[in-house]
Amino acid sequence: MKILSIETSCDETAISIVEFKKNNEFTILGNALYSQVDLHQKYGGVFPTVAKREHEKKLPILTREVLKESGLLNISEKRTVEFEEFDRYTEMKKGFDECISNTEKPEIDAISVTNGPGLAPSLWVGVSWAKILSKFWGLPIIPVNHMEGHISASLIAKNRLIEPKYPLISLLVSGGHTELILTEKKGKHKKLGATRDDAVGEGFDKVARLLSLPYPGGPHISKLAETARKENIDLFKFPRPMIKDETFDFSFSGLKTAVRYKVEDIELNDRNIKGVAREFEEAAIEVLISKTKKAIEEYSPNSVLIGGGVSANKHLRKSMKELIDSYQGIDLYLPSMEFSTDNAFMIAVASYLNNKTEETDMLKADANMSL
Ligand code: KG4
Ligand code: ZN
Repeated sequence: MKILSIETSCDETAISIVEFKKNNEFTILGNALYSQVDLHQKYGGVFPTVAKREHEKKLPILTREVLKESGLLNISEKRTVEFEEFDRYTEMKKGFDECISNTEKPEIDAISVTNGPGLAPSLWVGVSWAKILSKFWGLPIIPVNHMEGHISASLIAKNRLIEPKYPLISLLVSGGHTELILTEKKGKHKKLGATRDDAVGEGFDKVARLLSLPYPGGPHISKLAETARKENIDLFKFPRPMIKDETFDFSFSGLKTAVRYKVEDIELNDRNIKGVAREFEEAAIEVLISKTKKAIEEYSPNSVLIGGGVSANKHLRKSMKELIDSYQGIDLYLPSMEFSTDNAFMIAVASYLNNKTEETDMLKADANMSL
C-alpha cells in the first residue's frame, strides 16, 4: 500500500510517499520538508499568517517534487478544474495549476493528512490541499492526529514498523504539547496528564528568547547546556514545578518566569548564558523524568516511548535511558533524530496503522484534537 502524507500542523511543510508491505516493512519512496523557521525568527515564534501563506505556496511544489522522487509523476494533458477550496486559497490554486493540473493519478492508494492538533490556519491549509488532491485524483483521505504521528515515529526500526508490548506509556513533548499517555492496547489511549500552561518545547523557546538565542530555542539551549556540563559551569538553581504533585500534570510557565527574573538580574555573558541554559534544561527534564517514573510505578508498562520535537534533546534521551535501565523488562523507544521533529513520514505511518478513511467533503481540521 502506498500513501502520500501531508503535514502542516505548525511551521514545517512536509510531504512524503511511503510504501508499506504486509510484513510491516516499508520503503520511503519520497520525502520532502520545508522549514519556515527562518521566516519566523524575527517574531520569536510561529506567526500564523506567515505560516499559512508559506504552506499554501510550498505544498504544490513539494507534492510534485515528492512524486518525481518516488518515480510516480506521470504527466498528462492539463485538466482545468474548479474546487471550492480555491476560493479561499488563491496561492494554492496557482500552485495547483503549475504543479499538479497536468499530472495523472499516481499509483498510490490513499492520501493522509494531519487534521489536528496544531495551529488552526496551518492545519486547514494541509486539510484543504488533501481535499483538492483527493478530488482531482479520486483517492480516499485518512485523517491523522499529529500526536499519533509522533508516537508512530518512535515505533520504527530501520525499515520496519515495531509492535510494542502493551501497556505502553508515551511521554509526548513538543512545542505545543507535554503529555503522558497510557496505551493499554493498540489505539486505546488515555491521557494521564498534561501541561497546565506552557508546553516544555515552548519553555525552551521562550528561555532561548530571553537569552537572545534564535528560534526554535531547543537545540541552542541544549548545546549550551552540554557545554556547561563539560566545563563544569553550575551557577544557578531553578524550581522543578509540580515535581511533588500527586497528578501527572506539568507546569512550565513558573520555571520560565524564574529564568526571566534571574536573567534580569545578571550580566548576560557567555558563562552566565551557559549556566542558565544548563539549569533550565536540567530542571525541565528532571520534572519530565520524575513524572514518567511515577507513571511507571503506577501502571507497570512493558514499553515506554518519547515522542515530539523535544525528544531530540540528548539530555532527555540519556536521562530516560537511565530511568528505564533501573527497571527490568521495560522496552524504551526513541525516534531517530531525523523524525523527532515534525515530518510527514510519521503521518504516513500513523495513517497506515489506523487506516480509517474520512469522506473528503466531511473532513475538518480540529486545532484542539486530543488523542
Ligand atoms: O514536534 P515539533 O517539531 O513541533 C510541534 O509539534 O510543536 O517540536 C518543536 C519543539 C520546539 O519547541 C523546539 O524548540 C523543540 O521541539 N526542540 C528541542 C530540541 N529540538 C527541538 N527542545 C529541546 N532540545 C532539543 N534538542
Ligand atoms: Zn509535533
